[in-house]
Amino acid sequence: MWQVGKVIDRTDWSERLFSLKIAVDVGPYLAGQFIKLAMQLQDKRVARAYSIINPPGSNYIEVLAVAVPDGQLSPALHLLQPGDAVDVSVPASGFLTLNELPRGELQGRHLWMLATGTAVGPFLAILDTAEPWQRFEKIVLVYGARQADELAYCAKLQTMAHERSQFCFLPAITREIRPGMLHCRIPDGLTSGVIEQQAGIAISATDSQVMLCGNPGMIRDSITVLTDKGLRKNLRRAPGQITTEKYW
Ligand SMILES: Cc1cc2nc3c(=O)[nH]c(=O)nc-3n(C[C@H](O)[C@H](O)[C@H](O)COP(=O)(O)OP(=O)(O)OC[C@H]3O[C@@H](n4cnc5c(N)ncnc54)[C@H](O)[C@@H]3O)c2cc1C
Ligand SMILES: NC(=O)c1ccc[n+]([C@@H]2O[C@H](COP(=O)([O-])OP(=O)(O)OC[C@H]3O[C@@H](n4cnc5c(N)ncnc54)[C@H](OP(=O)(O)O)[C@@H]3O)[C@@H](O)[C@H]2O)c1
Repeated sequence: MWQVGKVIDRTDWSERLFSLKIAVDVGPYLAGQFIKLAMQLQDKRVARAYSIINPPGSNYIEVLAVAVPDGQLSPALHLLQPGDAVDVSVPASGFLTLNELPRGELQGRHLWMLATGTAVGPFLAILDTAEPWQRFEKIVLVYGARQADELAYCAKLQTMAHERSQFCFLPAITREIRPGMLHCRIPDGLTSGVIEQQAGIAISATDSQVMLCGNPGMIRDSITVLTDKGLRKNLRRAPGQITTEKYW
């Protein structure tokens, strides 16, 4: 079902990276889920999935998006201004949620969140709920981007890391070098051990749940490294440690 949402605010993080706040009642959803946005573009309607980055309980949703050159919908979304309308699918859906992770002995003590680019979104929503802080002793977010100015919500995450000793925030940028940030792709950082070293904990099948979101190449190559460490995909019929959502 579709509802008409109204853009109430936008933030521009870089020339092509932006957030939209959209007033709409999407009903109940779980942190980590996504909706679809749709627009009529010339003679055809185009719909695409976007993660909701604010936690449940508001009368609006917030999404983080990048204008992909030659993409169909994202350049049109990039032009939206407060007051403009955009169609929103309800209800939200998706399985990159804490509900999907095993509980009890199979859960482990540490939650790892690995994201590239806009895929930090579902993790922002999850971190803004009480559940991960209650279920896990330590939470590590590795956030990969090309450049530091493409790390949307970086200041919020840095503040969270200062305020919560339970939380480790590891920005990983690939196309420039910045003090205090890793300089590697996520799978390479897992292979070299620098990510675990910076987090101060090791990834293992007994201690870790790993959620991965974003670039399918990052997810594929990270799964290879994680599988070598003894972790396996988390399925409802066979609980494991690796839960993923590919953005394309
Ligand atoms: C479950 C799910 C959730 C998603 N959530 C988000 C989100 O929160 N924010 C968001 O920006 N996108 C998200 N996407 C991707 C989004 O649905 C669109 O594909 C994207 O906005 C590009 O749309 P387009 O029509 O302009 O180009 P498309 O024709 O759909 O894509 C063209 C190409 O752009 C690249 N691309 C697509 N999305 C991204 C991206 N996010 N970052 C980098 N490169 C990309 C890929 O190479 C893709 O083949 C999500 C996708 C899925 C499946
Ligand atoms: N027009 C422009 O000026 C412009 C500029 C930049 C991007 N773009 C386009 O905009 C879109 C979004 O780009 P984005 O930077 O948000 O997302 P992205 O291309 O997925 O890059 C985000 C991060 O993921 C890394 N990454 C890419 N492929 C990977 C893989 N196979 N394994 C592990 N890590 C990987 C990147 O490292 P690397 O840096 O090593 O790739 C980067 O650190 C893309 O379609 C891109 O082509 C356009």
